Amino acid sequence: MKNLVATSLFAVCAIMPVFAVQGSDLPTPSLKELAKQSGIYVGAAMEARHLKEPEFAKVFASQFNQLTPENEMKWSYIHPERNRFDFAKADELVAFAEQHNMAVKGHALVWHIQNPEWLTNQDWTAPELEKVLERHIKTVVGHYKGKVKYWDVVNESFNENGSYRETLWYQVLGERYLELAFKFAHQADPDAILFYNDYSNEGMGPKSNAIYRKVKGMVDEGIPIHGVGFQLHLMGEHSIGEATVARNIQRLQDLGLKVHFTEVDVRIRDDAKQFSVDAQARLFSRLMDFAIYYPSVDMYTTWGVTDKYSWIPSWFPGYGRGLMFDKDYKPKKAFDAVYSSLLAASQGEFAYQPPVGEHADTRIVQAFVAKPLTQSRLNDQEVIYYPFAYNQLGGQNLAVPESHNLSGKWAVGYHDNKLIGRVYRQDDKTFTNKTFDYENDNVEVFLQSGEAYWQIRSVVGEDFAANSFPGKTKGVWSADGKVFDFEIEFTSLKSLTGETIGFNIALSDNDEPEADASVMLSCILYLATTPVGKVNSSVSYL
Ligand code: XIL
Repeated sequence: MKNLVATSLFAVCAIMPVFAVQGSDLPTPSLKELAKQSGIYVGAAMEARHLKEPEFAKVFASQFNQLTPENEMKWSYIHPERNRFDFAKADELVAFAEQHNMAVKGHALVWHIQNPEWLTNQDWTAPELEKVLERHIKTVVGHYKGKVKYWDVVNESFNENGSYRETLWYQVLGERYLELAFKFAHQADPDAILFYNDYSNEGMGPKSNAIYRKVKGMVDEGIPIHGVGFQLHLMGEHSIGEATVARNIQRLQDLGLKVHFTEVDVRIRDDAKQFSVDAQARLFSRLMDFAIYYPSVDMYTTWGVTDKYSWIPSWFPGYGRGLMFDKDYKPKKAFDAVYSSLLAASQGEFAYQPPVGEHADTRIVQAFVAKPLTQSRLNDQEVIYYPFAYNQLGGQNLAVPESHNLSGKWAVGYHDNKLIGRVYRQDDKTFTNKTFDYENDNVEVFLQSGEAYWQIRSVVGEDFAANSFPGKTKGVWSADGKVFDFEIEFTSLKSLTGETIGFNIALSDNDEPEADASVMLSCILYLATTPVGKVNSSVSYL
């Protein structure tokens, strides 16, 4: 029996947490156990000093199964003098990882900062520097042979415009320093899995194009490179262009490379409102949704464990709170969201499908299968809730403006010939008394069947307004305007099973008290569903 297939056009869709994590209790199964079921390592960066804190070690060891030394394998730490290596701190981390059965990713064999002065203050000839590089890499990788499985071999070689960064390595050795570094690492440990790592390289753009060209060249030449890391130091008030990240992951995967999310954090402004906290959680979980979907993405590492120790406040003044655990080691909303994505995946519910269709580069088209409901009413446990995203049809800014304290989620299933759905809406100001429906706070549903197309609208507190839909529509709001239950009955059909229906849904918010449309500020949270490969004509409504 085929299900009703509808498809959706949306972005930033994390499933809302299914099982919230209470207080400081850590969930069972743990994050790492769930991640394992999806074939993903969940890790974090840390320093040896953190091990002294029992709470740190407890949270880390119970929830994560991968460790990246945040600093202590960098040149200035591990190779402080030309003829002296200092492995003490990094060894402590590797021992901790071994004890807790964690994979280690070494970070980083070649970088342009955190280098010792003996290296940076000297005029090297190319043959000399090549020898220095060879000795460093072979000594460090050799020391950890069999213990450190993954390495960030080269970190941050490119500028935003795709040109090579003018580093010591580039200036003296030219771009072949990359090939050299990968070869030396491979010679020192042929079993190690070797990565190129960078930031702002997750979507399509000049920088990721340059990286793609370079790594493709290396793969073609047989240079031992096995993956590309996306650092993903993100901001809560920004969003990622999901379709472009998807394309970038796909092209790297097509080269046979792995993709790791290597340094995830989502910083938010110190004065940020709840919206940024929610947006942060969505970003964390959307990244996990990508990792769940793409087999090539098998490591998701956050740049730290707790907001107590994070590089953010000192590197980005005015920002903080970028990780999944707060300063008291309590799991945050971001943790719940990531956990929910993994939990849903472990139960066969996948929140992410790659974009398809005419405008897949700027819009997110996602197929979803509406579920047959067991009864002719919607039960929250039976359906998946998707959050609304702002303006995703423009593909530019998916964050709701801070001026609008609005958020929501929706779900739809079906029974016989009825679509049965629910919207949860949160809004600080509700206006419903203006002349035109569209000036008021409302929910709109767009429907398409074959070439036929309908738009139906319900102002908060009211049933759907008169409309041209040939079946029956019914909308009922809770008294507080927070829950909207609706039914759309296709009276010409006996059952919706096997039908493909274009469906999208929008939440509109007008926070101006005056009815004058010219001052109306409309914030449309828009989630569209449409047959795969065919962009819904409702696009013209925005
Ligand atoms: C950062 C560390 O977190 C800081 O403690 C240190 O002072 C500077 O480096 N990209 C990287 C990481 O690859 O090594 C950086 O880590 C953050 C940006």
